Amino acid sequence: MVLPRLTTEFERAVAPVGAPRLSWIVDGAPDGWRQHSYELRLGEATYDVESRDSVLVPWPAPPLRSRQRVDASVRVKNANGELSDWSAPVVVEAGLLEAGDWTAEMIGTPLRSDESAPGPVWLFRRELDLTETPISARLYISAHGVFQAEIDGIAVSDELFAPGWSAYRKRLRVCAYDVTHLVAAGRNAIGVAVADGWWRGYLGGEDRRAHYGERIGLIAQLEVETASGRTTTGTSSHGWRVIAGPTRSADFYMGETFDARRAANFDGWSCAGFDDDTWAPCEPIELDRAVLVCHDGPPVRRTEEVVPVAVSATPSGASLVDYGQNLVGRVRLAGVSAAPGTEIVLRHAEVLTGGELCTEPLRSAKQTDSYIASGVGEETWEPEFTFHGFRYAEVRGLAREPEPSQVAAQVCHSDMRRTGWFTCSEPLLERLHENAVWSMRGNFVDVPTDCPQRDERLGWTGDIQVFAPTACFLYDCRTFLSSWLADLAADQMADGGIPFIVPNPRDPSQPFRTGIAAAWADAAVIVPSVLYERFGDVGILGRQLPSMTAFVDACRAAHGPRLNGELFQFGDWLDPAAPADDPAKSATDPVLIAGAYLVRSLSKLATACRLVGRQSDSDFYGELAGTYRQVWQERFYGTAGRLTNDTVTAHAIAITFGLLPGDAAIDRAGERLRELCDSAGHHIATGFVGTPLVCDALTQTGNLETAYKLLLQTECPSWLYPVTRGATTIWERWDSLRPDGQVNAASMTSFNHYALGAVVDWMHRVIGGLSPDEPGYRAVLVAPRPGGGLTSAGVSLETGYGTASVAWQLDGQEFSCDVEVAPNTTATLDLPIAGATREVVGSGRHRRTGRFAA
Ligand code: BGC
Repeated sequence: MVLPRLTTEFERAVAPVGAPRLSWIVDGAPDGWRQHSYELRLGEATYDVESRDSVLVPWPAPPLRSRQRVDASVRVKNANGELSDWSAPVVVEAGLLEAGDWTAEMIGTPLRSDESAPGPVWLFRRELDLTETPISARLYISAHGVFQAEIDGIAVSDELFAPGWSAYRKRLRVCAYDVTHLVAAGRNAIGVAVADGWWRGYLGGEDRRAHYGERIGLIAQLEVETASGRTTTGTSSHGWRVIAGPTRSADFYMGETFDARRAANFDGWSCAGFDDDTWAPCEPIELDRAVLVCHDGPPVRRTEEVVPVAVSATPSGASLVDYGQNLVGRVRLAGVSAAPGTEIVLRHAEVLTGGELCTEPLRSAKQTDSYIASGVGEETWEPEFTFHGFRYAEVRGLAREPEPSQVAAQVCHSDMRRTGWFTCSEPLLERLHENAVWSMRGNFVDVPTDCPQRDERLGWTGDIQVFAPTACFLYDCRTFLSSWLADLAADQMADGGIPFIVPNPRDPSQPFRTGIAAAWADAAVIVPSVLYERFGDVGILGRQLPSMTAFVDACRAAHGPRLNGELFQFGDWLDPAAPADDPAKSATDPVLIAGAYLVRSLSKLATACRLVGRQSDSDFYGELAGTYRQVWQERFYGTAGRLTNDTVTAHAIAITFGLLPGDAAIDRAGERLRELCDSAGHHIATGFVGTPLVCDALTQTGNLETAYKLLLQTECPSWLYPVTRGATTIWERWDSLRPDGQVNAASMTSFNHYALGAVVDWMHRVIGGLSPDEPGYRAVLVAPRPGGGLTSAGVSLETGYGTASVAWQLDGQEFSCDVEVAPNTTATLDLPIAGATREVVGSGRHRRTGRFAA
């Protein structure tokens, strides 16, 4: 039975806009099924639309007003006029869309904590009476800091670190929770714990904290609807009281300290009837309510528990817990019996030296949690407002070595839907892929970060710019990244430049060196383009267009008619040939990279303009792309028909960004690229910029086997060298752990940085053979290219239309391939089978076999 499954574009209970887009996947469709039209029912109204679109279709009705709720369902028709049943209804509810919807004020504590150190966790509470049983209740809530809210002792949500990190000065996200089941007629209480988080905590180094302000704040509005009409109640303004709770300090970099001896004083603090006489009345804090926006990204949650693989003793006598996996989250201490006042200290690190935690790579981040036991019974505790990047935890203060189950790790990150999988006959490549998945998990903690452990954990633009295509395959990160792009636009500089990190905690009045560093700032254009290509999201292009345009205009103004060599650049960051302490000093000329990215961003912007109907802008930027391509060629393509900068990255970028004058030039560059790779013994010779491109450049120029040799190299530097050294995440440096077994002593050495894992996108498209042929995989290209001695591979992707998958096997010279094509899409099969021609097939399962033809 053909039945559409309807979803709205946001994963939260309320929509941040009045006209959310809708998508559906058609279940039970017969092979070759194609949509001819759809009918959307929104409340009483129906809208009949003749269109094949089924992903992110526009809201057909007048936009919902704040709080308005409507039942939505869809049914679909194919070309033969066969109509499906109505989908199960989905409730679409708008959040608070206007500043004027707020009656609550932001409140804070009159008490001060030490302004030079991480603050305690503040507990805010108030009680309220409801005369009638609610039929619905919503809690709209946000904070300067990170919060956890409870009603009568029950957490309103399992979300962590809410409201997340955004461009706070312009966008402060509001979470809306359905709390109907938590409130009742009679007396109720709300309690909210608020910690420093990104607002007041350390960000970007030892002496840098409280970037946004010294005061923690809370804004909450509980709206209850009863049979006799809506009443707004429980707003933060008056009647709230506050105190520093049993968590003495909480900070993302530093960790958390909890005094369980004090916890007894707070039993039932968020329940009605608790005695808060000693608590202080809250004070109002000024807040421009125009900054309040509905949260538009996925919540951070605990997504997995990892039980340690081993517990042993360190040479210095502590317990050492090995999780067997470098991960991001924290440890839950369980079943602890200790004398009152015993301090149990947990420290975390990614690697060991001499059997002890190696904490140098953490720089000033302490990653240390302390639990001071109450001494009452068996105690269990997990920090609430911190996370760490670690494979190992050191535990001190317990009477004996903990059982593995007493120190299980809780993995925490933005809870996105996993969508993409990869398998192949080479276990090292499967592990490389798995490492990229873990690095994505660890660095998608509300914002896309460089690393999750040391004193950075910042939204470095270059890192996500190169990793975005991989990320969009592994997880449905569309709303995660589009929310981040809203922050990018909000934090964009007045001259159009893009801060190195987004959100940008720095005081905006401090000037930047430049906001157009190539490959970093270009995230402003590339990331929205990737969201369009991978999710079919045209809307994001329309929304980001002013930001994209302002950036590109700033970039060309800074470069002038020739390319400007005086601008600050990161170059091919972490090129293995660069000195360890000067990663920007790449062999590839930073101006070559800057010019290439300028052309790239100009042409992506031209495409975006065309797609949103701005043809003359599109022509303008398209022409400029051509002009700068010419300038680039004049400068970097010598008269001998060779690049003047003879590096792997230079060739890779020239080929993949289409910068060369004609096919002969491309062939020659491919040839030279192959020679460079061969003569380097297939060791990697690229940094952040060249690494995602080199395998594509080789593949496009007929040098597939060289790409495989690079990918399968296991000596340092290479992708698989870390895997052979037991890596379970992608490392920042090719030699974060050096071949002599020493941790790289350079001041910047992380073991969890996704950027160099961007090659995984090539693995999906070329080894697995699945890529989008039309945006959002509405048409897919199935073109696996076996090599490197692999005998099988498979990829599977949950697209917006349903599952698309490819699985191939090579048995001697016999090649077979199974393809699954989602309903309402088509696939072009371009298979390495002798005599086979390209063919287009409709949805369903297809199997092709034949003699392998490379
Ligand atoms: C970060 C990077 C980032 C780089 C740019 C580093 O400290 O960890 O991944 O892109 O700085 O300079």
